[in-house]
Amino acid sequence: MYYEFASKHFHKSSQVPRNLNKKELAYDGWRGAGKGLSSRVRRMFLDMDPGIDDAVAMLLASQLKDVEVLGVSTVAGNVDVVKTTRNALKIVEFLGLRAGVYRGSSRPLIRPHENSADIHGNDGLGGVALPEPRIRADPLPGPMAMAEFARAEPGKVTLVATGPLTNVAIACMLDMDFPGHVKQLVIMGGAFSLAPYGKGNVSQFAEYNIYADPEAANLVFTSFQDILCVGLDVTMHPDLLVKQEDLNRLRKSGSRMGSLAADIMGFSVRRMGYFAPHDPLAVYCVHDQAIVSTKRGRVKVVTDLQGERGRTILETDSEKSNVSVASAVDGTRFKEELLGALERAR
Ligand code: BDR
Ligand code: CA
Repeated sequence: MYYEFASKHFHKSSQVPRNLNKKELAYDGWRGAGKGLSSRVRRMFLDMDPGIDDAVAMLLASQLKDVEVLGVSTVAGNVDVVKTTRNALKIVEFLGLRAGVYRGSSRPLIRPHENSADIHGNDGLGGVALPEPRIRADPLPGPMAMAEFARAEPGKVTLVATGPLTNVAIACMLDMDFPGHVKQLVIMGGAFSLAPYGKGNVSQFAEYNIYADPEAANLVFTSFQDILCVGLDVTMHPDLLVKQEDLNRLRKSGSRMGSLAADIMGFSVRRMGYFAPHDPLAVYCVHDQAIVSTKRGRVKVVTDLQGERGRTILETDSEKSNVSVASAVDGTRFKEELLGALERAR
C-alpha cells in the first residue's frame, strides 16, 4: 500500500503532459527532484488558497535550499477552489516544481464559503498574466493527499497551511493517526493582540483564514502536538511590508521570478500601498524558525455565529501546551531574505 502510494506520487512527473518538457516551462528550473535525497532536507507539504501571498509563498519555498515541496493541496478561501487550484497549477508549472497539486474542499465544514476577492482580485492572482496551466491536478483529493504523504514518512513532513483549515480538519477526521504523523504544523492564521497590529483583518477580532472556517480551526488547534501559529501579530509588522520601492528593486534585478513576484504583489501595493507577506513568512519559518519569537500555550477559536467569530485566544497557563504563537519578528531581516531570494532566482 505504502509502496504503491510512494511510487505513484513521489517526485511525480505523471501530471506533466508528455508533450511538455522542462525546456518549455516558463521558469528555467526543474526543482524538487534532487533535494529529497539528503536527510537534511525539510519535507514540506503546502495546503493553500492562492491567493497572491500564497503564490509568493510558493515562489519563496522553491528558493529555500533546504526545503523540498512534496505537494500542494488547495482549498476554497481567497477565491473558489477551482480558481485556487488553477492558480496553484500555474505557479507549479512556472517553477517547474515536481510536486503534485491536489484539489481539496470547495467549502468550509459547516458554513458557506466567503471569499476575499476584494484583496486578491477575481482570479485570485490580481489579474497577473500567467499562461493557462498545461499540467493537471492529481485525482487524489487534497485531505487524502496530505494524510498519505505524512503516513508515508511519519515524523518527517512539515505541513504548512496558509488558507482556511478545512482540508487539514478533514484529513484529521479521515485518518485519526494523521496529526501524529506530521512533524510540525505551521499555520498562517489568527490575531492575538500581541502587537499593536495584531488585530483582525476581517473583523476587529478575526483574521481571514480562521474566520473563514472557525470550526475546522478549533478541531485543528486541538489535534496536533506541535503547531507554530504565524498570525497578524507578526505578518503585519511594519518592517516587513513590501512597498513600491521594493517592487522596483525586484524589477531591476532581471530575475523572471522577481518580476513575476513584483507583478503579483503590485496588485496589493496599488490597492493598499503595501503587500503584507503573510504566507511567505509562514513558509520561511520552516527554514528558519528563529526569525520569530513565540509564546507557548493552547489556542481556542470562537465559533459563535453572532459575536466574535474567528477570534483566536491564547491560553498560556495550560499544562498541555501544543501551540507556539509568533509574538515578534525580525521584520527587516525577513523582508531582505524574501526580496533577496526572489531577485537571485534565475
Ligand atoms: C491570510 O488570508 C488570506 O487572504 C491570505 O492569503 C493569508 O493567508 C491573511 O489574513
Ligand atoms: Ca492564504
